[in-house]
Amino acid sequence: MAESRVPRRRRFLVCEPRHFAVQYAINPWMSTGRPVDVVRALDQWQALVETYRAHGHTVDTVEPVPGLPDMVFAANCAVVVEGRVLGSVFHAPERRPESVPFETWFKTEGFDVHRPESVCEGEGDLVPAGRWVLAGTGFRTAPEAHREAQEFFGVPVVSLTLVDPYFYHLDTALFVLDDGGKGGAGNIAYYPGAFSPGSREVLERLYPDAVLATREDAMAFGLNSVCDGRHVFLAPGARQLAGRLAGLGYEPVPVDLSEFHKAGGGIKCCTQEIRETRS
Ligand code: ARG
Repeated sequence: MAESRVPRRRRFLVCEPRHFAVQYAINPWMSTGRPVDVVRALDQWQALVETYRAHGHTVDTVEPVPGLPDMVFAANCAVVVEGRVLGSVFHAPERRPESVPFETWFKTEGFDVHRPESVCEGEGDLVPAGRWVLAGTGFRTAPEAHREAQEFFGVPVVSLTLVDPYFYHLDTALFVLDDGGKGGAGNIAYYPGAFSPGSREVLERLYPDAVLATREDAMAFGLNSVCDGRHVFLAPGARQLAGRLAGLGYEPVPVDLSEFHKAGGGIKCCTQEIRETRS
């Protein structure tokens, strides 16, 4: 018998893809010769927001800025743990101006924002997982930012090295299924091939029961998912992963963001989670 999973209501921050486009190439998914269907992108994004709301989650929006086509990837602009907001410093000069409108949004909402000194791409690479924060480096976020995050949040940060350019952010290779709530380690799903051998060993030690995904699932953006404890908002192409999760008592909720895959992003990239309290 599969366990019965209990969802927890989340507060998400998103940014409408009104100015979304692929105008530069800063990861292997992006090609300026492959245009984005803007109307389709808007429809897909709207469906994501409606799906979150239909499952009881709160969705806030930040106003998009013309000339910042990747602003839709709200997850990269900050990471919030127990109401503390660590802002962002982007690796690519094209994305650097995005930090400001997000910082303004948080300040308007009454949060203080700590701006990191090193390259730090928010929840793209810093994934809060209950007792610790899992942190990716190798392509974007600098190891120095992992140390800054640990100092700022006062939560242990576990540094992990990414080695495959298709999985340049930690949130393209791993997501949290269960953050451990009242003290356990919780559980995650990840694609082992995205990590260095040592980092793989670290993940095996921390999460002996993790759900291991295939490269096909990962290439379909299956690890760029959001889980509320029960529902897994998941790319429809990640079929094997959906089957595994269903067998464990999770409920896969397919949301197709294929237009955003052209920019190297999926469901989680479009979703910033505002964690106000200890879970
Ligand atoms: N084009 C964006 C970039 O390369 C996509 C970001 C996707 N976000 C994510 N959290 N993985 O920066």
